[in-house]
Amino acid sequence: MTTLAVIGAGSMGAQIAQQAALHGVEAWLQDKSGDQLKRAVDSNRGHLMRRVERGKLGEPEAEHALSRVRATTDLAEAVAAADFVIEAVFEDLALKRGVFAELELAARPDAVLASNSSTMGISKIADVVSRPERCVNMHFFFPVLVMDLVEVVRGPLTSDETVERAMAMAKEMGRTAVLINREIDGFIVNRILHAATQEAYRLFDAGVAGFEDIDIAVEKGLNWPMGPFRLGDFSGLDVTYNARLHMYRTTGDERFRPSPQLEAKVKAGKLGRKTKEGWYSY
Ligand SMILES: NC(=O)c1ccc[n+]([C@@H]2O[C@H](COP(=O)([O-])OP(=O)(O)OC[C@H]3O[C@@H](n4cnc5c(N)ncnc54)[C@H](O)[C@@H]3O)[C@@H](O)[C@H]2O)c1
Repeated sequence: MTTLAVIGAGSMGAQIAQQAALHGVEAWLQDKSGDQLKRAVDSNRGHLMRRVERGKLGEPEAEHALSRVRATTDLAEAVAAADFVIEAVFEDLALKRGVFAELELAARPDAVLASNSSTMGISKIADVVSRPERCVNMHFFFPVLVMDLVEVVRGPLTSDETVERAMAMAKEMGRTAVLINREIDGFIVNRILHAATQEAYRLFDAGVAGFEDIDIAVEKGLNWPMGPFRLGDFSGLDVTYNARLHMYRTTGDERFRPSPQLEAKVKAGKLGRKTKEGWYSY
């Protein structure tokens, strides 16, 4: 059985550790903020206890899975015994490079070092460690306790063994992994999502249909659980907008230019569910 260390106990890291522990993996969860660690542990307890109430998980299993996640603010303690490390700190390149530099000193030399970054290929981070062949991207989806997919992305220096261990780690924690053979912006899922969503915005901006009708068409005709506008409200329109802006700026490709109506919503502070108004009102 693998011992896993997760660095960063935010919305992703907390659930990555818990998902692994549900499948019997010993997991350490580290965050530099003790308050955040407490919130992460409480939130995981809430999720597992709701499963117990709904009869989907036995109480002893839930308690075991909760006790299998050990929380600490000390990175060296978290990684000392780990054969696999997943970094899930803020999406900030300098910060991630700093964490990998710390891992180089504190983690076992044979441990795989993975990053959950949504946008940064591992080659941008792994050059701070002496053996970049043990580094890889493992891109989980929110919420990790529900979403059954991990995109494993091979960097230019990632070894076959590291790729195999990342695929095996995903499987061990009950998740389905797909392999992406080279670093590419947006990986697979976000590229396809962006392409479809951009087309939805183009239709809306051109006055071809209202956003409600586009959502209904996609939900009923393509069987998506949420149409692109409802999904935007759910994830946060600022997130949707910034992802487009990032792709547009890095590629210069007009296909990625954010919709003017999306930009107007973001500038008006109407960001979706979290502000109680986006395309829809909540
Ligand atoms: N939220 C999503 O939907 C999603 C999906 C896939 C991937 N990601 C990626 O996962 C990563 C984390 O995202 P998130 O949404 O969980 O962020 P978040 O803001 O919820 O959490 C980040 C956590 O990192 C901690 N942190 C910051 N610096 C640290 C350090 N030096 N050492 C230890 N902990 C530190 C913070 O205290 C915070 O708890 C990002 O790279 C993001 O791109 C996010």
